[in-house]
Amino acid sequence: MSRIVVVSNRVPLPAGNAGQAGGLAVALLGLMRRRGGLWFGWSGAVSDVTEPSFTRRGAVGYATLDLTEAEHRGFYTGYANGVLWPMLHGLSHLMQFRRQDLESYREVNQRFADRLVPLLKREDLIWVHDYHLLPLPGALRGRGVGLPTGFFLHVPFPAPEAVAVAPGIRGLLKDVLAADLLGFQTEADRENFAAAAITFTPAQRFDQHHLQFGGRQVRLGVFAAEISARDFAATAAVQCHAEPARLLARSLSGQALLLGVDRLDPTKGLPERLEAFGRVLARRPGRDVTFLQIAAPSREEVAAYRDLRQDLDSAGGALNSDHGEPDWTPLRLIARPQARDTVAGFMRLARVGLVTPLRDGMNLVAKEYIAAQDPADPGVLVLSRFAGAAAQLQDALLVNPHDVEAMAEAVLQALDMPLGERQARWRACWAAIAGASPEGWGEAFLRALSPEALAALPVAGRA
Ligand code: G6P
Repeated sequence: MSRIVVVSNRVPLPAGNAGQAGGLAVALLGLMRRRGGLWFGWSGAVSDVTEPSFTRRGAVGYATLDLTEAEHRGFYTGYANGVLWPMLHGLSHLMQFRRQDLESYREVNQRFADRLVPLLKREDLIWVHDYHLLPLPGALRGRGVGLPTGFFLHVPFPAPEAVAVAPGIRGLLKDVLAADLLGFQTEADRENFAAAAITFTPAQRFDQHHLQFGGRQVRLGVFAAEISARDFAATAAVQCHAEPARLLARSLSGQALLLGVDRLDPTKGLPERLEAFGRVLARRPGRDVTFLQIAAPSREEVAAYRDLRQDLDSAGGALNSDHGEPDWTPLRLIARPQARDTVAGFMRLARVGLVTPLRDGMNLVAKEYIAAQDPADPGVLVLSRFAGAAAQLQDALLVNPHDVEAMAEAVLQALDMPLGERQARWRACWAAIAGASPEGWGEAFLRALSPEALAALPVAGRA
């Protein structure tokens, strides 16, 4: 069997904080532990050390590089998170472009390629992840690497006119088209990518699943990221009796719990969500609800994230002073990460799960909320139409996060929903995720990247 070489910006190092790598690490770690392989990427540290560090845990070897301060500022904070992230989520007004950041972004990708090439073996499959590493497939091909190379985009891909606003994007599209297989979360992302590739590069559409570029076929696939729903359900069933959940339940004294769990990120629609909650309180004066919003700080070097933190603190404070009572605080805003297991227990207690991003690649929290519910007495998921998960969780209460009044109505509907309807909606959502797993997701991508699958490409096959 081929060795898997995963390349991602965040690497869940055995000694580090796997939580930092978000959904990506959760999705890949199990697969890598079982199949073995090499995980290559940023160490998470900033220093002037240019040599990679190596470590191993079981069947997984890790090779990581530090970023210099200038690279962290230019590649990570500047171009990846100050330009690509907002553009890909349709928030181009938050873009902060500096030409030297684009140069740094390209250089870091070249440096990653330089350091990765000597570690590669003849049977390897290379799997590159996410928007930090768009140039890497091109950089590897430029160094003579002919190994099967796949790229998966964890975030959304917008329509060509939205893509066009990111300076440098044409070159990056050409570079990523050097991969054999490009994976997306949803059909819409795949179609948008194909349209952008045709608009901004010489690529041509061959058929629904293939582009023709530089005399080669590039396969486009849809692979929705998944969670281990059954494992998460089991964790939630235990954790809802553990101390943090018991203390939370006691503090509610019978009030219904609304729960949001997000990184503190402009794409998550947090100000709109707080506003919607304010409208819920105005229309439901019974003091019988509490909203717990966990918002883990993220990318604090980026101005838009710092501004958001201030806006939320101020809006949250105003909400409590407008609606609170001497013996009741409707909003609990926690800007610290909480352990995933603890959150599973909280989710099972929550009558309403609020997952209302303005735009999101998948959003695994939506799937986790469904998995965490008690089938006999499930809560209701209020889900943004613009999260990738909405394509699968059609029986959630789907909302437009820009319409705060409609979000408030959905929350009120959820709070008053009869048990039979809650069960029916939950069962339909559960059916969409119960059989899936992150391993299944990864295996499907790797099968499509296998030499046998690539040899079956239409017409001339790979160059
Ligand atoms: C999203 C991205 C990941 C990223 C994670 C955490 O899930 O798709 O690539 O690792 O956010 O963000 P950070 O900037 O802390 O790596």
